[in-house]
Amino acid sequence: MIVGVGTDLCDVRRIAATLERRGERFADKVLGPHEIEVFRQRLAKVELRGIRYLATRFAAKEAFSKAIGRGMVWPMTWRACEVVKATSGQPHIRLHGELATWFEARGWQAHVSVTDESDYASAFVVVEQRPLDAKDCKP
Ligand SMILES: CC(C)(COP(=O)(O)OP(=O)(O)OC[C@H]1O[C@@H](n2cnc3c(N)ncnc32)[C@H](O)[C@@H]1OP(=O)(O)O)[C@@H](O)C(=O)NCCC(=O)NCCS
Repeated sequence: MIVGVGTDLCDVRRIAATLERRGERFADKVLGPHEIEVFRQRLAKVELRGIRYLATRFAAKEAFSKAIGRGMVWPMTWRACEVVKATSGQPHIRLHGELATWFEARGWQAHVSVTDESDYASAFVVVEQRPLDAKDCKP
């Protein structure tokens, strides 16, 4: 059963301007521990790739906050919601701390997709109720 959907469109130029103004403190505020490493590597190689990475992650976190029906309000925080990638390239949501506890207590699972093109980055998140395990079904 689908619990919620969330979407966000992010202007890459706005992210670039904020990064210019506030420096890496901005990325530190938004990105989780795994994401910040990827961001630094990409930024060091090709600056625009780093900025686009930050923009897609920004969009994914906003989209997730909408899919859970809270917005950027506790237990949702920027750094507690990360987007990590499987070896296939498919992105996945990884949660930390109170947000992870809150989310798992509800038996929810999240699916995310991100994209970017020219000046915009976008993300879409679906949250569903995890199917019950067979062992949870009492006769
Ligand atoms: C949800 C949130 C992240 C949206 O971010 P934004 O960059 O300002 O706006 P966006 O254009 O990306 O999205 C706006 C849409 O988010 C949706 N939205 C707002 N609150 C939402 C919530 N709690 N859950 C899911 N979706 C929400 C609405 O559909 C809104 O569009 P609408 O006003 O035309 O219906 C942000 O507004 C937020 O954190 N809200 C919760 C805290 C808050 O301010 N609450 C005020 C009421 S007490």
